Amino acid sequence: MAGNWKMHLDAASAAALAREVANRVSRAHHCDVAVMPAHPLLPAVARVLDGSSVGYGSQDISAEEEGAFTGEVSARMLLSLGCTYTLVGHSERRENHLETDSLVHLKTARALQAGLIPVVCVGEKLAEREAGQTLHRVETQVTTALKDLGDGISRVVLAYEPVWAIGTGLTATPAQAEEVHEFIRSVVGSLYGAAVADGMRILYGGSVKPDNAATLMAEKDVDGALVGGASLTAESFAGIVNYGD
Ligand code: PGA
Repeated sequence: MAGNWKMHLDAASAAALAREVANRVSRAHHCDVAVMPAHPLLPAVARVLDGSSVGYGSQDISAEEEGAFTGEVSARMLLSLGCTYTLVGHSERRENHLETDSLVHLKTARALQAGLIPVVCVGEKLAEREAGQTLHRVETQVTTALKDLGDGISRVVLAYEPVWAIGTGLTATPAQAEEVHEFIRSVVGSLYGAAVADGMRILYGGSVKPDNAATLMAEKDVDGALVGGASLTAESFAGIVNYGD
């Protein structure tokens, strides 16, 4: 269960939110829990979360190792702050920063090489869904992102986030989510075999809330959630993490 804090909060409010999240999810043993603050907030969040059951990671990573890349953040920097995870290829990066499927692949490979767990985001836009291209688009994204990852594949987490459901209050129905999740698992299976596909964690993202988490998580191939807006208060994020209570 991962909370994507996007470009919200500041050092003090991020530390306070992290503390409250850690308190509220400390008894959640059914899943891993992580938050993804903006890069400059990572040290403040790390100070609070180190030693707790809540992991943390970044919202993006550079595909490059090091060098003259103004504004970029390297895997090594993230590791040195204690990050376990990094989001890769979030639709807001793809849309606003023109990230292509092949750049998403390079970032995924870079994260794995450094020992970070990439949470690789895929998902179709509304026009693609309406044109009947959902599965085709997602297949291309998954196949390109996961190309030639070798043993690292077992550490990859995927997140299916239909772009039309992000921040809109529109959630995919459990059946819509399951259709794509099952398909993604079959694509992973054709690339890396059934054992890898069965073991892959596939998160759903897009307007997940405490009151819709349980029905989404009940689907066979939905293994967790990537939460944006509802991760910005500890009460609603914990309500999602503890959906079975
Ligand atoms: P949302 O965002 O929960 O606010 O729809 C999800 C995401 O962008 O990861």
